[in-house]
Amino acid sequence: MKKDLLGIDDLDRNGIEEILQEVNGKSSSVLSGKILASCFFEPSTRTRLSFETAMLRLGGKVIGFSEANSTSFQKGESLHDTMRIIGDFADIIVIRHPQEGSAKIAAEATKTPVINGGDGANEHPTQTLIDLFTIKQLQGTVDGLTIALVGDLKYGRTVHSLVKALSLYSVNLCFVSPKALGLPSSLQQLLRERNVGYSFYEKIEEVIDRTDILYMTRLQKERLQGERIEQDFGLKTEMLSLAKPHLKILHPLPRLSEIPPEIDKTPFAAYFTQAKNGVAVRMALLAKYCFR
Ligand code: NCD
Repeated sequence: MKKDLLGIDDLDRNGIEEILQEVNGKSSSVLSGKILASCFFEPSTRTRLSFETAMLRLGGKVIGFSEANSTSFQKGESLHDTMRIIGDFADIIVIRHPQEGSAKIAAEATKTPVINGGDGANEHPTQTLIDLFTIKQLQGTVDGLTIALVGDLKYGRTVHSLVKALSLYSVNLCFVSPKALGLPSSLQQLLRERNVGYSFYEKIEEVIDRTDILYMTRLQKERLQGERIEQDFGLKTEMLSLAKPHLKILHPLPRLSEIPPEIDKTPFAAYFTQAKNGVAVRMALLAKYCFR
C-alpha cells in the first residue's frame, strides 16, 4: 500500500474494496496516541469536520488550521517547508489546497502519510470512497449501474476522482453538462482505454428514466476561467416523475440551486445520508493509513 492517498489511482479496485469493507463507524481507541494534522488552505465544512470527528472517534487527537492566513503561508513560507514541519509533528496529514498538485508537494516533503482532501480542480479521492460506499449501501452494487453525473464536470474534483474509480467497475456513465463544462478529455480517454460505456447530454430529462444514480454537482464558480454559463443544469421536481423507483440522488454538497429543497423529502434524496457516511468512511481510512 502506498504511503499517501493523493488521487484515487493510488488505490486499485481491491484497495478500494478493502477500505469499504472495513467501514463500520464504531468508536474505539485504536488511534489513541496518534495525531492528525488537519491542514485546510481552502474552505471546507464536511471534509474537515468529518476527518476531525473520525480521528476523535478513534481515540486520536487533532491539530491544524482552517485558514491559510493563520499560518506562515502569510509570511511567504513555501508549501513544501510548511508541510515538512507539520509532518514532523503529526502521524497523518489531511490537506486541502486550491492548487492542483499541492497534495503531491506535501507528500514529497514528509515521510508522514498525506491524504488529499481536495487539490484545486484536480482530485478529491476520499469523497469518492464515500460516494462508492453510499452507492453500494443504497443499490447493493456498483457493477451494472447506469450513473448520470450532472453539472460542472470540467472543474468538479469529486467528479474527476469518481469517474476514475468508476472506470474500474462495469458501469454505464451518462455525462450531463453545459458544453463549456464537459468532462476533461484525459478522463474520456481513460474510459475508452478501460472500455467503459459513456455518452454526453445537455439535459437531465434525456437520461433520468434509465438512471440508477444521479450524481449532481454545483458550478465551481471559484474555478471558472472566463466561461460564461447561462444554462440551468438543475434538477426539477417534475423530472423525477420519469425516474425509476429505486433511483438515488447523490451530491457531494454544498448544493446551490441545482437541487431544490423540496426534493429532500422524496425517497430519491440520498445526499444527506452520503454526507453522514463521511465520518465512518474516514474512520476506516485513517485507521488504514496510520498503520500502513
Ligand atoms: C466538494 C469539494 O470540496 O470539492 N465538497 C466536499 O468536499 N464534499 C464539492 C464542492 O465544493 O462542490
